[in-house]
Amino acid sequence: MYQIPAEIVAAVDSLLAEMTLEEKLGQMSMSVGAEITAIGGSGTGAPIEQSIREGRVGATIQVAPPLEMARRIRELQRIAVEESRLGIPLLFCQDVIHGFETVFPIPLAQACSFDPRRVREVSAVAAAEAGSCGIMLTFAPMADLVRDPRWGRAAESFGEDPYLASIFARATTEGFQGEDLRRNGGIAACIKHYIGYGAAEGGRDYNTAEIGETTLRNYYLPPFAACVAADIASVMPSFNVIDGIPMTANKRLLSGLLREELGFEGVMISDYTAVTELIAHGVAADEAEAAEKAVSAGVDIEMTSACFLGNLRASIEKGVVKESVVDDAVRRILSLKHRLGIMKDPYKFLREDAFAAKVYSAPHLKSSRELAIRSCVLLKNDGILPIDEGQRVALIGPFGDSADLCGCWSFSTRREETCTIARALTQRGVTVDVCAGCDIDVPIPGGIEKAVNLAAQSDVILLALGEPSVDSGEASSRMDLELPAVQRDLANALIALGKPIALILTNGRPLLLDWFDRHMNAILEIWAPGSEGGAAVAELLLGKESPTGKLAMSFPRHMGQIPVYYNALPTGRPWREGDSNRFLSQYIDGPNAPLYPFGFGLTYTSFACGGLTLSRDVLHANTEITAGITLSNTGARAGEETVQLYIRDESASVSRPVKELKGFQKITLSPGERAEVSFRITEEMLRFYRTDGVYTSEPGIFEVMIGTSSADADLLRGRFLFKED
Ligand code: GLC
Repeated sequence: MYQIPAEIVAAVDSLLAEMTLEEKLGQMSMSVGAEITAIGGSGTGAPIEQSIREGRVGATIQVAPPLEMARRIRELQRIAVEESRLGIPLLFCQDVIHGFETVFPIPLAQACSFDPRRVREVSAVAAAEAGSCGIMLTFAPMADLVRDPRWGRAAESFGEDPYLASIFARATTEGFQGEDLRRNGGIAACIKHYIGYGAAEGGRDYNTAEIGETTLRNYYLPPFAACVAADIASVMPSFNVIDGIPMTANKRLLSGLLREELGFEGVMISDYTAVTELIAHGVAADEAEAAEKAVSAGVDIEMTSACFLGNLRASIEKGVVKESVVDDAVRRILSLKHRLGIMKDPYKFLREDAFAAKVYSAPHLKSSRELAIRSCVLLKNDGILPIDEGQRVALIGPFGDSADLCGCWSFSTRREETCTIARALTQRGVTVDVCAGCDIDVPIPGGIEKAVNLAAQSDVILLALGEPSVDSGEASSRMDLELPAVQRDLANALIALGKPIALILTNGRPLLLDWFDRHMNAILEIWAPGSEGGAAVAELLLGKESPTGKLAMSFPRHMGQIPVYYNALPTGRPWREGDSNRFLSQYIDGPNAPLYPFGFGLTYTSFACGGLTLSRDVLHANTEITAGITLSNTGARAGEETVQLYIRDESASVSRPVKELKGFQKITLSPGERAEVSFRITEEMLRFYRTDGVYTSEPGIFEVMIGTSSADADLLRGRFLFKED
């Protein structure tokens, strides 16, 4: 855990002693870095430069073309350092979620790579690009557990599993922050949204989340705990309530669980106007009460509203809030500024020449392409993929030659340069006839007819359909996850040709693919693959690379199944394949199982898993069990399989999931090759939060499952006894 060095503690305390209350509240205010801001740090509509001179702004959110932004940041920082009374540098922040100028696959896609090393690598690239034109803190990783694809922010998440989300949130944090923020070019990370935002009822953004305490701690908390352990610099409370208390005012979970129990010592930054929104939540009568509740709960910086600045002086004078609470917040803020090195060098993050040399560079684009290749998931393939370069290809659909592959959180000025699927295939010598056939959700006059005529001349049809980036992300909840009717009509017209047809799907969340699963020969999920998306897809379609991705989030077969996720509790009446008893937890009009389960993904060869073995059948607190299977490549091509380890606690003081991911290994085998794949099982892996809040393991029987997806049919099983002695 990062310990604030003694010299920084001393420097912070001596500066704090010089600060007026106004200046302290200024450090706790984050403004929009626009020219004039009626909200944010100034709170009075004064020009932001004036507010900075008066010490009423401590941080800003910046969004502008990089070098223009760098110029603006340099200007504002100079004012803060040279023209304010104490010269405290500003903290410049941005949502660098999945890349800066070089855009990487959306986080949901990154999680499907099951490749944290590459995710760490691309986060470091994003930090290098953003960190060299002024950005010091990013509002990422977003680590909300998501089980409901109606919620548009699934795109920014790492999916439905706590273990996987923990691994990727930590990898992203380590990539952004580097080994030690003070010593290298990293930027501060801010894990969000704490906590439970992904459980918004109805998948409707900003809606109520009802989560029991053990569910909150066992499913939603792990990524945050993992990043606190990785010394994340900041945390952002979420918009939602937990048990009726908005997170921005939730002292029990902010100061209690996060700070006191987990030891988080960093800065807590509210979400956008979330402090003011306590009024709309109905827990604050006015901005004064909103400010009092938020600062008392543990919020240090108020984002783009001015409740702290406008009210806390009076709250302190009335004795409602102690000035020591403000002092503690300012200490954490100043400590972060020291940790970032800007107290010594306020312009440390302004290295425009370094930016110009690296931004959108070939190595950066290569890292984006490589991660995109590994993030795509092959959901179906009857053998038509990979295609042969000599084949005549009809590339049909609104995404065939579209640059809209960069996803929902990208401010990149280079999006128009995104490599499209059409360009990539053509560059690789493929004869490609391209035709949109329809727009995203409206027909093109004569488009379908033109597409059919073109496809009639082809050997294979690649149907590039999906969801535009603007339809996923924040404030993008959907109640219907079918592809637009016009895209379905186009597909229908094409399958009438009786030619091999593959769906290439770009989207920011699981969509309903049941019809496509029945009518397509192949389905390749490419998500929003980033700047090099088309190139990555072409490499996969041509077989230069094989698909290796595995789903980080289940695909429902029907809207009525939502939420459907793999690590559910068993219920008292679990339904199992083949059960005929009606009085079980099931639907009378459809299956329980999703169309594609968590952990599922195909490749261009086939694998078989051989007998599961356990090194012993009893585990003790200080011993371990080795569980293994034999993996064989039973196909005709080399390939990589992600072997997954799941564990189930069959009986405990709380009901435990039917399975939980506890490990995975990526194994590459040549045709006919076999390998022993083994996992260490230890007592720590069995721990969970009990209803009394204790994080512990309990003795009993555990089931071990190892295989190639979370589906029971893909898993080999064994059992062991855990004894506490
Ligand atoms: C938004 C989002 C949050 C983002 C912040 C700043 O409302 O909820 O994820 O970091 O505002 O843009």
